[in-house]
Amino acid sequence: MSSFDFKSAISDQSMDEQKALIESFSNISDEEVMIRIASLKQELSAKLIILGHHYQQAEIIQFADIIGDSLFLAQKAASIEKEFIIFCGVHFMAETADILAKPMQKVILPDLGAGCSMADMANIIEVESAWKKIHEVLPAGEKVIPITYVNSAADLKAFVGKHHGYVCTSSNAERVIAKAFEEGSKILFFPDQHLGRNTCYKMGIPLEQMVLYPHPRGGSGSGSDLHFTLDQKIKVILWEGYCSVHQGFTKEQILQLRKESPHTKVIVHPECNFEVVQMADQSGSTAFIVEVISKASSGSSFAVGTEINLVSRLAKLYPDKEIRSLSPFQCLCSTMYRVHPRALLASLTSIKNGRPINVIKVNEEVKTLSKLALNRMLQLG
Ligand code: 13P
Ligand code: SF4
Repeated sequence: MSSFDFKSAISDQSMDEQKALIESFSNISDEEVMIRIASLKQELSAKLIILGHHYQQAEIIQFADIIGDSLFLAQKAASIEKEFIIFCGVHFMAETADILAKPMQKVILPDLGAGCSMADMANIIEVESAWKKIHEVLPAGEKVIPITYVNSAADLKAFVGKHHGYVCTSSNAERVIAKAFEEGSKILFFPDQHLGRNTCYKMGIPLEQMVLYPHPRGGSGSGSDLHFTLDQKIKVILWEGYCSVHQGFTKEQILQLRKESPHTKVIVHPECNFEVVQMADQSGSTAFIVEVISKASSGSSFAVGTEINLVSRLAKLYPDKEIRSLSPFQCLCSTMYRVHPRALLASLTSIKNGRPINVIKVNEEVKTLSKLALNRMLQLG
């Protein structure tokens, strides 16, 4: 199988159809858009379910039948029976749902522009080239297990499926990494260096046993002249990817907060950098953040290092607690934000019209291999 065979189709219909549908709503008010969404959702309820990631804006979350983090939504996608799954999230999440869905089901992403900049930091050509390079310098008798964060394209999930590796999410990274080390002596973790580093460190692997694979498109490396060596003591090879939203949280913000509000607890997502996670009181997936804050006693105070829509929603949900963003700047995931009510209305209307748009279809070859890797992850819980 060549690298290019892995590419998955984004949609079987043109973006023009969505544009035309959204234009047809141009004369209706925002209020009317919400009324129409509610009514179509009700009308189509026998064959439709709406999934919403925690970072979705409040106007979308109110229509989600199931809300969760990446792991929970993937688990749910694997067990849903409805014909249509509208995935209010980003592209890799909808792809994951399509991989796990049954053949008769259709997964719809309301806005095809809702990608993930971190997922885009690794592609199959780069990862295959890194894999080759790593094996050129791998000490004899050693075995590398590839692990891709779920925030990655389907062809990368297929790559790890093909090479007996795993997919992980921020909820189960520790379990997956522990399992990988039962099977190999090193791991290659992509695309998020921070989740890889933070999790491995938490598991007791010192930073000296981790190395950053120089990013082929820049960063500390460049293309074919890239120089990479691998010491026997290295256990973890990290891809040089990151989330630009979570890069917005800094150690200086925590120092400032400790001065101004020493009673406030800092809770961050493990996509934040190492210093931030080390200084925080707690770190974990979006589901973990939601759980900790929901269970905290009235009057407790949190500064949260994750996407602003989730932080704002938690602040509204728990007015008896003090909940704010760790950053004074708006850490917004602009791609998650692309899923807006008019896009959702277009998706619903297209289903009603019998011509669903933005159907995410992963090609069959990619699906088979990536499903293998996803199921290996889901078996670990
Ligand atoms: P969770 O799996 O924790 O929801 O994270 C997904 C994500 O994209 C965080 O930026
Ligand atoms: Fe991707 Fe970061 Fe947005 Fe999460 S917050 S979807 S990692 S860009």
